[in-house]
Amino acid sequence: MHDHPATHHPDLLVGIDTSDDAGVYRIAPDRGLVQTVDFFTPVVDHPRDWGRIAAANALSDVYAMGGNPLTALQMIGWPREKLDFALAAEVIEGGAEVMAEAGCTIVGGHSIDDLEPKYGFAVTGEVRLPGGLVTNAGGRPGDGLVLTKPIGTGIIATAIKRAVCPPEVAAEAVRWMTTLNRAASVAMVSAGVSAATDVTGFGLLGHLAEINRASGTGARLDAGAVPVIDGAWDLLEAGMFPGGSIRNLKAVAGFVSGDTDDPVTRMLADAQTSGGLLIAVAEGAVTRLLEALEDRGVDGWLIGELTEGSGIEW
Ligand code: CO
Ligand code: CO
Repeated sequence: MHDHPATHHPDLLVGIDTSDDAGVYRIAPDRGLVQTVDFFTPVVDHPRDWGRIAAANALSDVYAMGGNPLTALQMIGWPREKLDFALAAEVIEGGAEVMAEAGCTIVGGHSIDDLEPKYGFAVTGEVRLPGGLVTNAGGRPGDGLVLTKPIGTGIIATAIKRAVCPPEVAAEAVRWMTTLNRAASVAMVSAGVSAATDVTGFGLLGHLAEINRASGTGARLDAGAVPVIDGAWDLLEAGMFPGGSIRNLKAVAGFVSGDTDDPVTRMLADAQTSGGLLIAVAEGAVTRLLEALEDRGVDGWLIGELTEGSGIEW
């Protein structure tokens, strides 16, 4: 696919080659279109929350590029014979609520009959060129790594599916998954950073590995500084670990220092939904970024740094 002429154009600034969060296409010397699509099967019990999470997650890839979302197309797959469509209406209501919060206009969409429910959005945004664009390829050795949401949502979603999740733990995970990365994005663009991505299905290690590959760096994590949602460690210990996270562990096993049986490695590999931004920022600008986040009411944790080399150690 990477070699196909359909994937190249002089105005394509970010394409599929660097596994970035969204494509960026220049439409004027100072403006780029940011485009991304994301949809998935239910991650929580309540239809409305699922819709809210799906919207926040789809928007997140635009924010991870430093972009501002403008329009969205909704996609829904629904087993009409098996599941009341009134539930789908609740999902859609939740999605619309978060799109409205983001100032992103739903301009259309498509629904199909499907074996299991699926929901999500294709989102189009804009980014100011060249200064507003943040890719995953600009990281440099010595950059600090800042994360803006705690991890553990894959483990918690698995516990929810198995009906063993304490309600307060589930509520906290939903609160994080429905929190927009908008303020974090505005803060990072204002502070000036090297690279960013959002932490989603490949987990913290997998998405950090993408920054490493695109930037030609390695990374050292302060594992104890990585924020984890309250209750997630207990659920991991109780055996909650989703299939996606197991795949992540296998994918990163060759280049991380931790043993794949170790709970810390497992937590760092946990597949996230609508996770935070993972931002690489020059050492001298770490404080400025943390202050810019704090000014906008966004949490920021310094969790490590980029290094020479290629692996991830802690
Ligand atoms: Co992403
Ligand atoms: Co995505």
